[in-house]
Amino acid sequence: MKDKFFYLPSSPFLGKNMAQNAIAVENLSFSWQTNTPILDACSFNIPQGEFWMLLGANGSGKSTLLKLLAGLLEAEEGQIDTIQPLGFVFQNPDRQLVMPTVGADIAFGLVRENLTYRETLARVREALEAVGLLDLQRRPIYALSGGQKQRIAIAGEIARQCRVLILDEPTALLDPDTQIELVRQVRTLVKERNLTALWVTHRLNELDYCDGAFLLEGGKIRDRGDPQRLKKRLKKEEK
Ligand SMILES: Nc1ncnc2c1ncn2[C@@H]1O[C@H](COP(=O)(O)OP(=O)(O)OP(=O)(O)O)[C@@H](O)[C@H]1O
Ligand SMILES: [Mg+2]
Repeated sequence: MKDKFFYLPSSPFLGKNMAQNAIAVENLSFSWQTNTPILDACSFNIPQGEFWMLLGANGSGKSTLLKLLAGLLEAEEGQIDTIQPLGFVFQNPDRQLVMPTVGADIAFGLVRENLTYRETLARVREALEAVGLLDLQRRPIYALSGGQKQRIAIAGEIARQCRVLILDEPTALLDPDTQIELVRQVRTLVKERNLTALWVTHRLNELDYCDGAFLLEGGKIRDRGDPQRLKKRLKKEEK
């Protein structure tokens, strides 16, 4: 199945925690195998309009948590409320971009919406403008750099008018300069368009660009708050 075609859960009502939160998670539990919970009554909120990062050791359950938020997995227990539509950006854009050219790929993500050709074109162009890549509309996907591919993947979600962006280690395959460009771009998109983003990373220098951060450990959020404080804590623990 192509990653583009996941059905996202609809949120017919927003729970009591949703007044200023774009994402509200309460007592979420999930196990891949019985008796080894990956998420264990995990709770957290992300305020609307903010850019938050999720940290945690390899295998701590970050990707699992994002898949639960996106409705790609079903929780065993607990409650997830998110503003919709929600867009997902993968670590490897080659899993996400499926059409031969940039414009076709973004348009392809809109097929469910039954737009006219003109409306589709307007959405594609507006989304490409948002990520500063309007020039690449006709470019074949294979001729893009890694950073450009990630920005096109983000443009696809913007074209779908996603209000929440979930990004799973989007800079893992990028060089340091491109990495910082991408994180800056996402920050700008969040602030200019009043979006909400949750970004998973292992790279502590990215914490300089977010509003807040979480640390996932033992199936729960063990620390949350000021990204600089978390950065210091994790740097110390790395030593
Ligand atoms: N499809 C799956 N089937 C069974 N177990 C899985 C599956 N996907 C992940 N797991 C297990 O769940 C745990 C959490 O994995 P997950 O990928 O969510 O961690 P992560 O925090 O994203 O790690 P990383 O930093 O390496 O990306 C790991 O022990 C992993 O082996
Ligand atoms: Mg992961």
